[in-house]
Amino acid sequence: MTTVLVTGADGQLGQCIQNITHQFPSLDFLFADRNTLDITVANDVLDFFETHAIDWCINCAGYTAVDNAENDQENACKVNSIGAKNMAQACQKNDVKMVHISTDFVYDGLKTTPYTELDKTNPVNVYGESKLKGENEIKQILDKHFIIRTSWLYSEYGNNFMKTMLGLAQDRQELSVVNDQLGTPTYAGDLARVVLNIIKLRSQDYGVYHYSNEGITSWFEFAKAIFEESNIELYIIPIDTKDYPTLAKRPRYSVLDKSKIKKMLNVEILDWRQSLRKALLKFNL
Ligand SMILES: NC(=O)c1ccc[n+]([C@@H]2O[C@H](COP(=O)([O-])OP(=O)(O)OC[C@H]3O[C@@H](n4cnc5c(N)ncnc54)[C@H](OP(=O)(O)O)[C@@H]3O)[C@@H](O)[C@H]2O)c1
Repeated sequence: MTTVLVTGADGQLGQCIQNITHQFPSLDFLFADRNTLDITVANDVLDFFETHAIDWCINCAGYTAVDNAENDQENACKVNSIGAKNMAQACQKNDVKMVHISTDFVYDGLKTTPYTELDKTNPVNVYGESKLKGENEIKQILDKHFIIRTSWLYSEYGNNFMKTMLGLAQDRQELSVVNDQLGTPTYAGDLARVVLNIIKLRSQDYGVYHYSNEGITSWFEFAKAIFEESNIELYIIPIDTKDYPTLAKRPRYSVLDKSKIKKMLNVEILDWRQSLRKALLKFNL
């Protein structure tokens, strides 16, 4: 049996992993929420690894409030950089392999074609900086790592764009949504399966990978699809980023090239709209 520790287990990715464990009978799971294991406390992390026999760790813990991070750099860094470092050190010491989740926000968004893993990183906000520092800590400390950069993560759990849009639809007749930021939504349920397959296959092709659903869209088109697929009639107005000021700057284009992960796992990735239908079905269960 292979034992897998999942940190940040109550987040949306953590919960999506919990949902499909029965499909991976060769894996045993230890789910740790923030109360069970705070990844920012190095000694607690080391103690946890020393008192449990762990083969793989999936670090789903993260400071994910992108706008809050602008005025809370210390905590963003504590979780996303130091937390990642603590996890990598404990993995290194105990010969544990690590899957870490990172973000499209490590890129500046100035490209107009999909980002490959070899493209230059250049975060435009505090959250992206803190995640990039976390990646670099892991790379320095631990050889046996998979860093998966993903984008626009959503699911039936937690706080995310799909759920925000459905919530707003309950008391709004119209909505303005940004139409000049391009990227690809990622259903966390799909990402969960990809991560568990890497572990099930005992892959040793360590390194940085991109994963999102297929296709390119804008937040406006994503919102439109959410309402169309839910049979909700709502007037949506496409607007420019400049007309929707946020504390954190966002990359204008963050489509990820997924050739590398497709080759490694030999998988077909679903189009974002197909996955949206799956997520809505789960949400409406
Ligand atoms: N959401 C996106 O659009 C997106 C896009 C690209 C990449 N990612 C990355 O994907 C990963 C998973 O994202 P997600 O959307 O599942 O995040 P999420 O729903 O915000 O879950 C993150 C979890 O981490 C926990 N956590 C925070 N600080 C912690 C700490 N010090 N120790 C242990 N746990 C801690 C949180 O607990 P509390 O709720 O108690 O704070 C939460 O349960 C993150 O690394 C994120 O950076 C997310």
